[in-house]
Amino acid sequence: MPLPKAELHLHIEGTLEPELAFALAARNGVQLPYPDTEALRSAYLFDDLQSFLDLYYALMAVLRTEDDFTDLTDAYLTRAAAQGVRHAEIFFDPQAHTARGVPIGTVIDGIARALDRSEDRHGISTRLIMCFLRDLSAASALETLDAARPHLHRITAVGLDSAEAGHPPSKFREVYEAAGALGLRKVAHAGEEGPPEYIREALDVLGVERIDHGLRCIEDSELVARLARERVPLTLCPLSNVRLKVIDVLEDHPLRQLMDAGLLCTVNSDDPAYFGGYVGDTFHAVREALDLDHERLRELARNSFVAAFLQDDEERRTRLLAEVDAYDFAGESGF
Ligand code: ADE
Ligand code: ZN
Repeated sequence: MPLPKAELHLHIEGTLEPELAFALAARNGVQLPYPDTEALRSAYLFDDLQSFLDLYYALMAVLRTEDDFTDLTDAYLTRAAAQGVRHAEIFFDPQAHTARGVPIGTVIDGIARALDRSEDRHGISTRLIMCFLRDLSAASALETLDAARPHLHRITAVGLDSAEAGHPPSKFREVYEAAGALGLRKVAHAGEEGPPEYIREALDVLGVERIDHGLRCIEDSELVARLARERVPLTLCPLSNVRLKVIDVLEDHPLRQLMDAGLLCTVNSDDPAYFGGYVGDTFHAVREALDLDHERLRELARNSFVAAFLQDDEERRTRLLAEVDAYDFAGESGF
């Protein structure tokens, strides 16, 4: 049994493996601009966040029906369960679908069908986080929140993703205020490609409870001290950072420094179909590259449950934390 863990930074559209992309393309009569899965996979060489996003949005053309979203989500949950995931908080990008004429209800109902049976089928509890695309307008984000109103019982939190540079969190003050008034929790991508100042804005202007990525806080020692003092969780994605050239090599990742500074760090897979690994693979990779011992890995797993939106099921959090504490690395085959 692998080390039990929560995944808190996972874009469901980023779990679209080439094989499923081609299967859905055939089912929906969509022509992909690649001859086969191998050719598609070989296109997964990115220069930066934008070059990844271009392919990520283009491939979404194959996602059209409720069944497509259910199949996508089921495939992720199956892979995640095999790598020890016991709780997953899943991002989705409604605007990337509504812009193509797919109704938000189709997206949410399709994902939710897989989530509703996830605990029984996969042993994974789930939450859904609706992200606004920050390179679209603030008005479009407000329209999206409005369109999601009939589905809010399915949604735990709002998030902010897509191209970061030039799109500061403060652009979305109004929609985050409205989301908060509706009882939604708040997270935001900040400090991935954008500057440390965006992390401050996400906290102070948007009132987020967690920062997604956030690794560029390392450039600002006062900010690092604040994040440690306030126990703000970071959902780090080390394999993503290498693939999108935020850092050169995994050995350069600031995870260990941030843990040493007392930050509540978690590791996650972001868009695992594109970045070379799911969350268990990520644990393996950081262990090797950063020479983390078993107690560091246990701390990361603990943190993932501490930072999870499990306030409505503290019993489950307690149980999962106890499983992490009791985990015997020596007797187990992987993590
Ligand atoms: N959407 C999917 N993955 C993303 C990432 N790493 N950063 C910003 N937006 C994203
Ligand atoms: Zn992300």
